[in-house]
Amino acid sequence: MKPVELAQDTYWVGVVDYDHHDFHGYSMSPEGSTYNCYVIKDEKNVLIDTVPAGKAKTLLCRMAHVLQPEKIDYLVVNHMELDHEGSLAEVVAACKPEKIFCSTLGLKSMAGYYGKEMKDWPVQVVKSGDTISLGKHTLVFQETRMLHWPDSMVTYCPENKILFSQDAFGQNIATSWRFADEHDHSDLFHRVKEYYFNIVLPYSPQVLKTLPVVGSLDIAMIAPDHGLIWRGDMVKEIVDCYRTMAEQKPRQKAVVIYDTMWSSTERLAYGVCSGLEENGVPTTILSVKKNHHSAIMTALADASALAVGSPTHNNTVLPYIMSALTYIKGLRPKILVGGAFGSYGWSGESPKILQEYLAEMKCEMPADPVRVQWRPGHEAMAEAHELGRKMAECLKAKCQQ
Ligand code: FEO
Repeated sequence: MKPVELAQDTYWVGVVDYDHHDFHGYSMSPEGSTYNCYVIKDEKNVLIDTVPAGKAKTLLCRMAHVLQPEKIDYLVVNHMELDHEGSLAEVVAACKPEKIFCSTLGLKSMAGYYGKEMKDWPVQVVKSGDTISLGKHTLVFQETRMLHWPDSMVTYCPENKILFSQDAFGQNIATSWRFADEHDHSDLFHRVKEYYFNIVLPYSPQVLKTLPVVGSLDIAMIAPDHGLIWRGDMVKEIVDCYRTMAEQKPRQKAVVIYDTMWSSTERLAYGVCSGLEENGVPTTILSVKKNHHSAIMTALADASALAVGSPTHNNTVLPYIMSALTYIKGLRPKILVGGAFGSYGWSGESPKILQEYLAEMKCEMPADPVRVQWRPGHEAMAEAHELGRKMAECLKAKCQQ
C-alpha cells in the first residue's frame, strides 16, 4: 500500500476499488474504479481530494509512508461529490488541517452534506486565479462550474507542471498501473469514451470553454480523480480527445437498439441494420435486454444515428426500451438522424411512440416508422431495409455539410 511518486515531493495516495460498479446509473467496466488523491510535501503540506466513505483508512495508511496525517497543513477539495469527499470528516479529524480550500459552491455542498459536523472546519473559499504558496510550490485554482458539478474546480501546480483535474480527463479503471501509457491504448480510450459519454457529455459546452484554459498552461501531467494519470505526449492526446468528444461532429456510423418478445422486432432490427450498412453507414446492433444502457451510450460516442425498435406491449413500448431512452435523452448526445420500428399483434402503438420520442430529442426522422403485424415477411423486411437506407442517406448528407 505504497504511494507513487509523480514528481519530486508529489505523490499519488489514492485508493483502487475493484468493487464499485455503478455511478448513478452508469454501470462501469467490470474492474471497478480508482479514487485518486495527491500529496505535495513542502513547508506547507497539502492533500488534494480524498476518497469515498469507508476508504479513508487506506488513503491515510498509504499517505503515512510519506507523511503522517497530522502533518497535513492544507486540504484542497476540488469537487464535493461523495466519491471524493465521502470520507472528508474522517480525513479532517485525522489531519486537523490549518485550512480547507474549496470553491464558493463547494462550501454550499459541503455544508449540505456535513452540516453541524463542519462548523469548526477552517474552510477558505477560493476563486479562479487565486493562488496559495506552499513554499517551493504554488497552487493555482480554476473553477470549472458544471464540469461536471456546480462546485467543480481544478488545481494547477506550475512548479511541477501538474494539473489536478478532478473528474475531468478521468476514466473508471481499477488496475495496478498509475499512468495512462502503461495501459493498453485501445482499452484506455474505450474507457475514456465510456466515462465521457456516461458522465461528462451534457456539460460539453463547459468542456469547450475550459479547454483553452487548459491549453494556456504548461502541463507535463494531468492527474484526474479517477483512473490513470496522463503524462508526456498523452497529455495532448487526451486534451484533443476531449475536444473531439465535446464537439460531437457528425459521425457516419449508426446504432440500432431494440427489445423483442418473440423475435419479430429483432428481425426488423437486422433489416434496418442491413439498410444502413449497405448504404455506407457501419452499424452496431444492441439488444437492450442484453446490453446495459451505459454500453449503448458508449456506442453512441462513435455514431450520429439511432434506430429504436420495440414491439407493442400493453399499448406502449417494452420497459427496457423506455429505460434506455430516458437515460440517453438525459445525457443529450447529438443524434442527428433517428428511425423507429416495431412489431405488434393487436394495437401497434409502439413505433409511433418511439418516432415521437426521437423527434422530441431533435433527431431528424427521414422515414415513417416501420410497423409490422405478427411476423415480418419479405415485404416487411424490405420496409425495414428501406428505413435503414433512408437513414443512411440522411446521415451521409449531414456528414458532408
Ligand atoms: Fe468522481 Fe463527480 O465525482
